[in-house]
Amino acid sequence: MTDTFDFDRYDRVRPIRWTGDALELLDQRKLPFIVEYVRCETSDEVAEAIHALTVRGAPAIGIAAAWGVVLAARDVQAASGAEAAAALEPAMQRLNAARPTAVNLAWALARMRRVLASAGADWYEVIEREAHAIAAEDLAANRRMGALGAALIGEGSGVMTHCNTGSLATAGFGTALGVIRAGVAQGRIGKVYAGETRPWLQGARLTAWELQQDGIQPTLIADAAASHLMKTGAVQWVVVGADRICANGDTANKIGTYQLALAAKHHGVKFMVAAPSSTVDMETPDGDAIEIEERDPGELFGVGTVRTAAEQIAAWNPVFDVTPHTLIDAIVTERGVIEQPDEAKMRAAFG
Ligand code: MRU
Repeated sequence: MTDTFDFDRYDRVRPIRWTGDALELLDQRKLPFIVEYVRCETSDEVAEAIHALTVRGAPAIGIAAAWGVVLAARDVQAASGAEAAAALEPAMQRLNAARPTAVNLAWALARMRRVLASAGADWYEVIEREAHAIAAEDLAANRRMGALGAALIGEGSGVMTHCNTGSLATAGFGTALGVIRAGVAQGRIGKVYAGETRPWLQGARLTAWELQQDGIQPTLIADAAASHLMKTGAVQWVVVGADRICANGDTANKIGTYQLALAAKHHGVKFMVAAPSSTVDMETPDGDAIEIEERDPGELFGVGTVRTAAEQIAAWNPVFDVTPHTLIDAIVTERGVIEQPDEAKMRAAFG
């Protein structure tokens, strides 16, 4: 598929642009009504942009963090990579602290540390090349996953997705949304349902808009409508991305994913997780060991700037949940497909 697929027709949005002296981030807080790039000139501006969800999605925040290291490096004078690494460590720790759940952030920073450790006097060029490589590899991985994941889906299927896992969340093409793009192009997917993804509305604001750029018209549903949708028989697959996949296959993703997996199991709907190998964390044994980000309860009090909740109400706002591997039919990475994932299969694939 990758030889013949018209990627330019199906993949037009780019959330991250490196200008050579600054990082431009498509401001995902303002989409779909305002398409505007924010310019970051320091690593702390990048860390704040990651924390504020200006840039979001597991692979995208890893890529942004790598560029954040390059920005921090512009103020460092060092004769070797090792010397630069020591000077850059505080900035890297601030980038790492921006969001806790998606492992791609720590993974990208670890890659930058690794190349710095062996770099000589040309260490700045080395880390700039590495940031470019992280983005290029992510795009290639997504294109490969699109082909692998789509091949699992029967012709004319209905598919449901959650959150935004597209070009906006990655270097391009997307993970779960890449599978959906490929599946639509091949005629395997006849209908796409996107959950709103309360409270931040990644589905309603971002996935719907992004697919429309490709000429794909998804059908939006309230998150609470998912079980009912499955009961009608309209969907054969739920396809989602991931923020961290553990050694036993347990998977953290956007809050609401777990209840989709439970409903899918009940209704005989297949459940696919599509994510690059940079999202696999073999150091985390299972889902219980993942730190789940909790954000400002204020995100639950309204829609946009309009308050909808009663005044002085308490709220709890975990933004990810963990789907146990027993509810997952397939984990798709660029390295291949793991069906009915468990620890033995994960170890065989990822060491
Ligand atoms: O809070 P977000 O919008 O960063 O959450 C994003 C998700 O949960 C995505 O599903 C996940 O990062 C995979 S993106 C390819």
